[in-house]
Amino acid sequence: MMSRGGSKLLDNSMLAVLGPRLFSSVATRTVSGESAATGILTGYNYKLGIVGVRNRSTLVLGEKEQEEKNQANETAGDGNNDEEKRIVSYWGVEAPKVTKEDGTEWRWSCFRPWETYRADLSIDLKKHHAPATFLDKMAFWTVKSLRWPTDLFFQRRYGCRAMMLETVAAVPGMVGGMLLHCKSLRKFEHSGGWIKALLEEAENERMHLMTFMEVAKPRWYERALVFTVQGVFFNAYFLGYLISPKFAHRMVGYLEEEAIHSYTEFLKELDKGNIENVPAPAIAIDYWRLPQNSTLRDVVMVVRADEAHHRDVNHFASDIHYQGRELRESPAPIGYH
Ligand SMILES: [Fe+2]
Ligand SMILES: [Fe+2]
Repeated sequence: MMSRGGSKLLDNSMLAVLGPRLFSSVATRTVSGESAATGILTGYNYKLGIVGVRNRSTLVLGEKEQEEKNQANETAGDGNNDEEKRIVSYWGVEAPKVTKEDGTEWRWSCFRPWETYRADLSIDLKKHHAPATFLDKMAFWTVKSLRWPTDLFFQRRYGCRAMMLETVAAVPGMVGGMLLHCKSLRKFEHSGGWIKALLEEAENERMHLMTFMEVAKPRWYERALVFTVQGVFFNAYFLGYLISPKFAHRMVGYLEEEAIHSYTEFLKELDKGNIENVPAPAIAIDYWRLPQNSTLRDVVMVVRADEAHHRDVNHFASDIHYQGRELRESPAPIGYH
């Protein structure tokens, strides 16, 4: 859905990638000389107002002269709004200015309009893979046993719980994608699109985290917990995936089933009024293309639908391995949200 949405947006010319290249033409055509220096600095001052210090050693200007100009400009800029500060790119690499359909500036750098989508809320939330084999049961009970300390720690603080769990949920896709990437290189073979599909999942989970960060601010000890859990979980999942991707994907499938359960409980608390149904964070409205008057409840609904898609993808990946096949033999469900 992501890719479909993306192409549609592009077809509609939603994006206007603006902004002239700031220095590249001058910097690449000249090696030294005052005209080059003037050209660069003219572009600098006109476009940015403030000169940063990155990459100064590679600029055409003499280092001392440049340092003085940098300091002068920085001093001049101190009185201005900090938001005007931009990172200087000598290399012609610059952040394109992206606008929305209505012509206003795109607010987010962590994702772009073509990565947004409308969640498929019609997905079956009740699907469950009944564990049959020893590996399945091990995956199932591993996840169940992890739920107990989680319930104990968070109790009914679902906002906080969601935020913390997303820090874990975003790990498997990245680890799996990375390992498939390395395998593709090692074995000189295509991935069937699974690298991209798993990285997409990781990115989607990270966006869940970026969203819940807006409604629940982590305390210091929760941040410390994330550090510890990530250190353990990343390595454990890495090893687990190396040993048995069949088990690793099955476990994520069950984790996603638990996530659906958690978000369903979250919705119940919102409906009972135990959690305030605050307006949806702006980042969520843009990412899921939600109506402007959306609330936290709407956000939880779309996140839960995403989890159901992750559940399907991971159980499917495990099933492929169970059938004695490789993931690359079945085209990956890229953009399946
Ligand atoms: Fe998530
Ligand atoms: Fe998920």
